[in-house]
Amino acid sequence: MAHPDWSGEREIVLEAVTKTYGDEFDAKTVVSECSFALEKGKFTVLIGPSGCGKTTLINLIAGYERPTAGKITFEGKEIAGPTRDRLVVFQETALFPWMTIFQNVMYGPSVQQGRPDAKEEAMALLAKVGLQDFHDKYPNQLSGGMQRRAELARALINKPRVLLMDEPLRGLDAMTRQLMQEYILKLFEGSGQTILFVTTEIDEAILLADNMILLSSSPASAKELIRVDLPRPRTEAVFDTPRYAELKSHILSILYGEALQAFASGSRAAADLIEAFEARRKTGAE
Ligand SMILES: Nc1ncnc2c1ncn2[C@@H]1O[C@H](COP(=O)(O)OP(=O)(O)OP(=O)(O)O)[C@@H](O)[C@H]1O
Ligand SMILES: [Mg+2]
Repeated sequence: MAHPDWSGEREIVLEAVTKTYGDEFDAKTVVSECSFALEKGKFTVLIGPSGCGKTTLINLIAGYERPTAGKITFEGKEIAGPTRDRLVVFQETALFPWMTIFQNVMYGPSVQQGRPDAKEEAMALLAKVGLQDFHDKYPNQLSGGMQRRAELARALINKPRVLLMDEPLRGLDAMTRQLMQEYILKLFEGSGQTILFVTTEIDEAILLADNMILLSSSPASAKELIRVDLPRPRTEAVFDTPRYAELKSHILSILYGEALQAFASGSRAAADLIEAFEARRKTGAE
């Protein structure tokens, strides 16, 4: 595995992490000897095929699950359970439907003590994600993209040291997804926030990442670490640069190899991936 020089402070470190579900008669290894680090203040993207174990890795880092073997540390201490330092933005919506958007954002501060400034901060965050005029609406009155932005605000108000985002843009249409990527760039470029962001979209990964971790097909392990050295601030214009094309073709070839392997061992999901990659490769070659 290639190991670029991720020389920054390693805030979260996974060392040979393995996760096996089930008992000895029906054991399933979902993560196998997975090692990587999250650099403090960096945007790290975890990318891998559908079903390969990404959510399991997020749950392990958040502390909802414990590794079967290996070690995960946060600032040098082994992770023993969930804390407010590491918050997750989930794959599916987690807003409370009976609360307004403002109340949802205020949920964290309302159960914590000593946040007298929280109301102003909630409104400022809602403005940052373009929802200032929607603070008194209920989640079901908002579009999918707006709901995802509200969730971002709801997580950020708690000032987590590390934000874990598990495919937060999954299921959004292409236009909304692009808009969300712009919001994410605006929110986090230069913010010094440590982020782990899960996606299956290569363009999205390259656009957002400082560091990228390519996962193997199931069971998940870190197949390759890539430093995305495109200049910031970034816009969609990076897609027209030669460096972007170079990074993309390198990433495609690795993920494609993983999909082929998964297919050979009987994964039908991998067949879709192979088809998608081949279609993308053709368009890329034109
Ligand atoms: N609690 C559990 N018990 C048993 N198996 C589990 C459990 N949680 C996850 N798995 C299995 O682990 C594998 C990886 O699941 P996981 O959700 O981590 O993958 P993923 O990469 O996030 O998938 P997706 O792309 O669908 O989000 C799957 O085969 C799943 O069935
Ligand atoms: Mg998942």
